[in-house]
Amino acid sequence: MFALYQLSEEHVAIREAVREVCNAKVAPNAAAADETSEFPQASYDALRASDFHAPHIPEEYGGAGADALATAIVIEEVARACASSSLIPAVNKLGTMPVLLSGSAELKQRYLPKVASGEGMFSYCLSEPEAGSDAAAMTTRAVRDDNHYVLNGVKRWITNAGVSEYYTVFAVTEPGIGAKGISAFVVEKSDPGVSFGAPEKKLGIKGSPTREVYLDNVRIPADRLIGEPGTGFATAMRTLDHTRVTIAAQAVGIAQGALDAALDYVKERRQFGKPIADFQGVQFMLADMGMKLTAARELTYAAAARSERGDADLTYFGAAAKCFASDAAMAITTDAVQLLGGYGYTKDFPLERMMRDAKITQIYEGTNQVQRIVMARQLLKGVI
Ligand code: CAA
Repeated sequence: MFALYQLSEEHVAIREAVREVCNAKVAPNAAAADETSEFPQASYDALRASDFHAPHIPEEYGGAGADALATAIVIEEVARACASSSLIPAVNKLGTMPVLLSGSAELKQRYLPKVASGEGMFSYCLSEPEAGSDAAAMTTRAVRDDNHYVLNGVKRWITNAGVSEYYTVFAVTEPGIGAKGISAFVVEKSDPGVSFGAPEKKLGIKGSPTREVYLDNVRIPADRLIGEPGTGFATAMRTLDHTRVTIAAQAVGIAQGALDAALDYVKERRQFGKPIADFQGVQFMLADMGMKLTAARELTYAAAARSERGDADLTYFGAAAKCFASDAAMAITTDAVQLLGGYGYTKDFPLERMMRDAKITQIYEGTNQVQRIVMARQLLKGVI
């Protein structure tokens, strides 16, 4: 994957191609998506037309077959232009990963081509009102009834809910035994009994709808079970091992967007008779921002390589990359706002949006406190 520890020509070419699409057709919609809290359909259409909406889907299912590093680069570049839009490739990967990791050949064949073609997106339903960090405390139930399962419960904080056609839903099939009693299912938006709550009113990523998903006696064929009964929690965690890398990539992209805008500004803005870029205090801030961003990107790409290979230390690297890159993105976007002074605090520049968008990367796919739990457990087990 790495040629002498540098990106391969293919990876560099993918970055150039996705950057071109994003500069022309995604960035122009970013402010409006934030302002109106509407899903940026034009960005989706542009990503779909260039096959960047779900690049990770293997070629055998009609996908672009991007490896984990290429997928991270796509998400990074989309996030550099519009964080909300970067959740299109990111959540398509999150939603489909349980099927890719644990689904039957038949389930893969049924759903993955639809995501690859852009016919529908795929969301991931793990969290509930009373089960966030403690995901295994979920109460959504799935009860077997002949050749069907009947699902009842409420899933909360579901990214792209309502827009997505397909949902991986984790539910308890055997109560009282914790994580081992959880199973995973594919639920379709059109299944009778599926409905959605009002869109959450959020600080950032406003162009990506976050809603509750209600499951009211949703009766689905038993072949929608992903993997064996009782393996759902492990599938959920294995999925997050891979997709925390994509959140790290999203954070890197948001931070790069903010650094780019700050660099442009400090060269133009003059105070005390010279560009503010000439002041050492400003230069030290830029250097710290660049240093944090570079370190975050390197860790993210190292984690992506492990995700592609399925290495035993992926759990650690996925958590470390997500935690480090999201903390870096928060610091870098905050400093970028500072460098623009009063202008950074207004909607005349994209920095305040980027700062608000960065915040979620410290929270979702496991808070950074959970990432530290995950890392510490791996260290104590001697995996690292
Ligand atoms: N790979 C495979 N199996 C795993 C695993 C992994 N990475 N992590 C845990 N498991 C297995 C364990 O092996 C264990 O089985 P055994 O007993 O057989 O060993 C079982 O799952 C239970 O594991 P734990 O005892 O470690 O579980 P826990 O209850 O202590 O939870 C936790 C650990 C790390 C805190 C976990 O609950 C967690 O990650 N919480 C955060 C949840 C989260 O990330 N939510 C994000 C929602 S998705 C979202 O935000 C997306 C969005 O829309 C954008």
